[in-house]
Amino acid sequence: MPALACVDVTTALLLPPPPGYALAGETTFPPPSLTFTTTSVTAINSNEDEVSDANWSPSLSAKLFKVDGWGFPYFGVNTAGDISVRPHGSATMSHQEIDLLKVVKKASDPKCCGGLGLQLPLLVRFPDVLKDRLESLNAAFDGAIQLHGYENHYQGVYPVKCNQDRFVVEDIVEFGSQFRFGLEAGSKPELLLAMSCLCKGNSEAFLICNGFKDSEYISLALIARKLALNSVIVLEQEEELDMVVEISNKLCIRPVIGVRAKLRTKHSGHFGSTSGDKGKFGLTTIQILRVVKKLEQLDMLDCLQLLHFHIGSQIPTTELLADGVGEAAQIYCELLRLGAQMRVLDIGGGLGIDYDGSKSSDSDLSVAYGLEEYAAAVVHAVKYVCDRRNVKHPVICSESGRAIVSHHSVLIFEAIGASSKSASSLSSIGLQYFGEGLSEEALADYQNISAATRRGDHEACLLYTDQFKKRCVDQFKQGTLGIEQLAAVDGLCDLITETIGVKDQVRKYHMNLSVFTSIPDFWSIDQLFPIIPIHRLDEKPTARGILSDLTCDSDGKIDKFIGGESSLPLHELEGHGGGYYLGMFLGGAYEEALGGLHNLFGGPSVVRVLQSDGPHGFAVTRAVAGPSCADVLRVMQHEPQLMFETLKHRALEFCGQHDDDSVVDAAGLANCLARSFDNMPYLVSSSACSLNAVTNNDGFYYCSGDDFSADSASAATSVAGEDEHWSYCCA
Ligand SMILES: Cc1ncc(COP(=O)(O)O)c(C=O)c1O
Repeated sequence: MPALACVDVTTALLLPPPPGYALAGETTFPPPSLTFTTTSVTAINSNEDEVSDANWSPSLSAKLFKVDGWGFPYFGVNTAGDISVRPHGSATMSHQEIDLLKVVKKASDPKCCGGLGLQLPLLVRFPDVLKDRLESLNAAFDGAIQLHGYENHYQGVYPVKCNQDRFVVEDIVEFGSQFRFGLEAGSKPELLLAMSCLCKGNSEAFLICNGFKDSEYISLALIARKLALNSVIVLEQEEELDMVVEISNKLCIRPVIGVRAKLRTKHSGHFGSTSGDKGKFGLTTIQILRVVKKLEQLDMLDCLQLLHFHIGSQIPTTELLADGVGEAAQIYCELLRLGAQMRVLDIGGGLGIDYDGSKSSDSDLSVAYGLEEYAAAVVHAVKYVCDRRNVKHPVICSESGRAIVSHHSVLIFEAIGASSKSASSLSSIGLQYFGEGLSEEALADYQNISAATRRGDHEACLLYTDQFKKRCVDQFKQGTLGIEQLAAVDGLCDLITETIGVKDQVRKYHMNLSVFTSIPDFWSIDQLFPIIPIHRLDEKPTARGILSDLTCDSDGKIDKFIGGESSLPLHELEGHGGGYYLGMFLGGAYEEALGGLHNLFGGPSVVRVLQSDGPHGFAVTRAVAGPSCADVLRVMQHEPQLMFETLKHRALEFCGQHDDDSVVDAAGLANCLARSFDNMPYLVSSSACSLNAVTNNDGFYYCSGDDFSADSASAATSVAGEDEHWSYCCA
């Protein structure tokens, strides 16, 4: 436990009292012999805390950041201290692991250094992970079906609302084709994209049409059937039935209809607020019966083939899941009894993921089961009810979104600075000014601080320090204390609190990121994601920090982390060449579409990375720069071209003519303005090239296509041709 031996403080407390003020016979604060209690700067988990810097290892970082919990089986820490990605999950062989830092380097290094010249923040997508998620989910259901002797199959759909990115949806349709995997839509644009993507999918794949509907939505869903797509119109409201009947008659297209039931089973977590019989969506028992009667009267009861429910995302336990599935299975059997030609039980979403690695059901951040347990609980619950009712087992459909896409992408962002480690040194706080102009009361407080320090009475010392500071601030507001004196007072008070050990040791790391754009659920619903440095994990993190973003908003910060932590173990930025990169993991679902444009910060650059031949090889198959300033301005109805012309005109009017000494001419200014419209809104990193030195890899890059150009004026277009395959190969 450190004694009061901090050089600055020792000096401070040995300083003479303020001019003109005698400290009752004492001329100094007491010498530094008192033992003060301090909180350790590295207040990490106690075990790791005991490990010296020299004995630190990547596996200790993995433990500290709980990587083996939330990251399994896709993320780990390699011996170089970088995050390694296992693109095929548990089936990944060690030579197939991808070093995430090398991907970031490849994407962000300037072209002159062999990189793609993309600006951070950067979203790295791993389609191999998507494939593995789909395969694992299907394997889990296949296993459960076999184990329980279930006499039908599983056929899932992906709810596109979780991530509507074209390449994510196209990948899912392609990888899912062998499993008859389909899509779920909740709005007209989602339906349009699902229809067009499923043209390349399995012809039996479901196209589940959920959400509130108007006649146009229903027409589209019916047209999908005409296009040989397996669309099912799921009634979310009773009134939708009349529209379905009318439009299907008009178009002469026989609909396949589903009903969404409001179950009595209720999920009590945040994501369960739409469940239960008072939930926002679905039909009550009375409404379902009215729908059946109406369809019977219209001789359309054969059209009713699917029962759907959704009790909420992140279902915490398999007990709750089985309860809901069991209730739905009873409704399914009743609908069959009433004459509907039921075939499919659609159990909605809710398959949870473990954001904090705790495998517990105590919060929305984790779930107490894996894919296998989930599938087993569903299959068993449906079979149990159907067997007792002597009903043929239905096709089981799930609308798992979060569980399919969360792991496939990592958001990388860079620290651009951090608040200083300790209070200013005495020389910089200008102690020569201290004491000038202090009121009698303030000087009395100062004396009391001194006395309390001598007694070792920390509580009184802090009380007087607080009072002293308040008085000085009041004096400053009244104009009787100068700014130099106030700064000296602040500095001295900081030194005192730091020495006593109550000064907040948590520092602010400034991030080249917008929380509102890239991690909106943190801001809106307190959703936590694992966030950790993606490199330097072979070094002991010696600081703790919160992450503050670029926006001018007090909410633009991350100060809650998995594991109930209010700060994150981080490394010092000083003295380290290159940037400091953090990754936000498991954010592949919901975050991209929910993100806003606060302060006009747009989305990140994106690369798509496949595992490739060669040891630890990867191929960047697609690279897209994030939206430029012009792009985000356009969203708000500004016209960047006109804005540029206006400014260029001004440049011609005011520069180069009257001001002959000017170092920039009008054309130079116009160029500069044009570049600013084309660049991303984020800060330009000064470390992009120096990352070369950090990674010190001995591999090389090649590109099979033409010269890569990242200077695309339009961020919406891919900066690399789709056929280009950039690969990293270790020599
Ligand atoms: C109807 C419906 N289906 C599926 C999902 C996807 O749920 P999850 O992401 O939990 O799998 C949702 C999300 O809330 C939903 O409302």
